Amino acid sequence: MSGTLTEPAVDVLGKELSSKLIVKVMASALHEVVGHRVSVDVAFKRACRGRRVVTLKDRERLYKLVRGFVSDYIKLRCIYGGRASLSKLAREWLKGVSDEGLPKWCRLSYQDWFVKKLQKLLGIEEAQELLQAMNSRVWWLRINVLRAPAKQVLKELREEGVNYVIDEHFPYMVKVLDTPKPIRLLSPVKEFKAIPQDKASAAVVESLKPQEGDLILDMAFAPGMKTSLIQMLTENKARIIAVDVSYRRALLGRELLKKLGVDLGRVQVLSADSRFFRSQHRFDKVLLDAPCSNSGAISKDPGLKITLKEGKLLYYSEIQKQLLQKAIKLGDEVVYSTCSLMPEEGELVVSGIIDRVRFERTLPWSSVGYEVIPNYREVMRLFPHKHLSEGFFIAKIRAK
Ligand SMILES: C[S@@+](CC[C@H](N)C(=O)[O-])C[C@H]1O[C@@H](n2cnc3c(N)ncnc32)[C@H](O)[C@@H]1O
Repeated sequence: MSGTLTEPAVDVLGKELSSKLIVKVMASALHEVVGHRVSVDVAFKRACRGRRVVTLKDRERLYKLVRGFVSDYIKLRCIYGGRASLSKLAREWLKGVSDEGLPKWCRLSYQDWFVKKLQKLLGIEEAQELLQAMNSRVWWLRINVLRAPAKQVLKELREEGVNYVIDEHFPYMVKVLDTPKPIRLLSPVKEFKAIPQDKASAAVVESLKPQEGDLILDMAFAPGMKTSLIQMLTENKARIIAVDVSYRRALLGRELLKKLGVDLGRVQVLSADSRFFRSQHRFDKVLLDAPCSNSGAISKDPGLKITLKEGKLLYYSEIQKQLLQKAIKLGDEVVYSTCSLMPEEGELVVSGIIDRVRFERTLPWSSVGYEVIPNYREVMRLFPHKHLSEGFFIAKIRAK
């Protein structure tokens, strides 16, 4: 976002919500993000608790404001310095602030280290395009044919006034151009017939090329979006062992799989640390959708602009290396992916196994990897400014 920011404020300062309440919710949500490092969605829920935000319309308007405010936090600190209170920042933001004369990273409201790193990888101009693209969100829906025929779901979406285009690569993915109500409140979404899922997430599963009868290990499955897509593509006919280290996430994931129409007779859910996973089976395919910094998901959660830490990259990189070493021992074909824009969570992880494997470019329309390893052309990257998806690294790996 650049220029003055008066627009959203005018839109929301209607009769229903007092400006005092708006400022309180905004400041409190930002406090949650900065102080407790939670996502914008969690921060918003906490900030509304116990406050009179009654109608759905008010909630939606406030939510939009909170997202915009959190997204602009770094810019606001550039302008008003470190000592201004969060309430003051909220009040100033609502009046509209000018970003003239600010350095670019301030204007786009990103941390300095993050911008510098991307500029080094992509060049100044492309990094700018990427950062700008992440300041707005593209919504994708997966038509879940495990729940209803595609034609029927598309008709229902149209009847609700949703304007969409069907994706050119994956016919079950639609890009939402316009919707009269929040996505989560659309009937097909409430009934799990259409699922909010990013195109990059579908691209990961497509790279695995799951087939009926495949025995698949999903090493970090929760909440289960990719597991459920595997079962949709194979009509519930793959056999999957779905593992997650978090017991709570694994339980919630299992519940979600059920709601999405996945046959739980074909999916075994386990809670375990996949780095130490043992099995008497050799898997046909292994999916490692690894834990990571999530830097590719900023458009979904602008709070990441504030909470991302450079120091965490090596921490995740190390876990990913261990998980990948295990993955190539357990299966013949591995897809390793991360929702990250950083080479520490992609190219520099696969560089450790280059001698033992070969790579396959499964998505000809994707970008190549960063030029930091010799095989960078054989691995794939998806970018918000190019592919209108989240930022992802994807490598399809086969044993030599
Ligand atoms: C990016 S999320 C996975 C998203 C999931 N594949 C989907 O599409 O819904 C990463 C997951 O890895 C799990 N995780 C982290 N470390 C792990 C480990 N050592 N073994 C197994 N799971 C792990 C986290 O609990 C988290 O649920």
